Amino acid sequence: MDSIKIFAPATIANVSCGFDILGLCLDTVGDEMVIKKTKEKGITISKIVGQTLPLEAKKNVAGVAALALLEKIDSDFGFDIEIYKNIKPGSGIGSSAASAAGAVFGINALLGEPFITKELVSFAMEGEKLASGSAHADNVAPALLGGFTLVRSYEPSLEVIKINSPKELYATVIHPQIEIKTADSRSVLKQQVTLKLAVKQMGNLGGLISGLFTEDYNLISNSLHDEIVEPYRSILIPGFEEVKQKCIKAGALGSGISGSGPSIFALSKGEATAKKVAESMSNVYKNIGIDFDVHISKINQKGIKILS
Ligand code: HSE
Repeated sequence: MDSIKIFAPATIANVSCGFDILGLCLDTVGDEMVIKKTKEKGITISKIVGQTLPLEAKKNVAGVAALALLEKIDSDFGFDIEIYKNIKPGSGIGSSAASAAGAVFGINALLGEPFITKELVSFAMEGEKLASGSAHADNVAPALLGGFTLVRSYEPSLEVIKINSPKELYATVIHPQIEIKTADSRSVLKQQVTLKLAVKQMGNLGGLISGLFTEDYNLISNSLHDEIVEPYRSILIPGFEEVKQKCIKAGALGSGISGSGPSIFALSKGEATAKKVAESMSNVYKNIGIDFDVHISKINQKGIKILS
């Protein structure tokens, strides 16, 4: 195999109570990438369609992730990457993660899979480090592995766990057309939390994981709260509180900021409710007069998909 075409999915990081450790994979929105073997060693990025992003490998999240992988392996050839972007950078649905995860997935496949998929997470994290200054895995892990993923540990070693999720669980995500850079929305966060808030957040995270495994929608709903990050970030997102309230009224299990925003997500039981939620979210931004994209998706259990 000399060439591979893949779908690199968008993701929702944090999922309210799991800042930097929890994420889920979407099915209906993502980039496409074509990766080819080249005679020249190293990484080139020959084409980026849909966004203006650096072509120089060392300045591009896909390039940096790919170079991190190549450092660990002795390859006689190199790789060229083409990226067809559908996910807007700064949208909060894992634009940089899709590119970084897609690059390492594609290269690993062309190399004959020297790494298992879980091992690719740390290479893809190098792309996140370039994009935001922080090597978090809560977008790249679900993009690579599919479903919900939990980062049990970053240090001393990375441990990522795939979490079961109910088949009827749907995500709705709305992206108001403003850009919030992850680095900026991380800079507004407090570096200390009180014991009281930590206890609440741990309870919710445990509840959410348990609810996902046991397919207990009430427990999922009761647990979808963020006591630590949302209060600081939500002020950067116009209409946030109203969108959240309308989602719940439309039947969503819960709602919060997708990744570092400005996208807002909601989880629902069943596609019909997820569609109602999308309509309610859309109405808020129509009234405010902000353009938006809205996506409805079941949880993508596979992650990156090989197209050809
Ligand atoms: N966990 C990250 C954050 C996701 O919230 O900053 C954004 O990429």
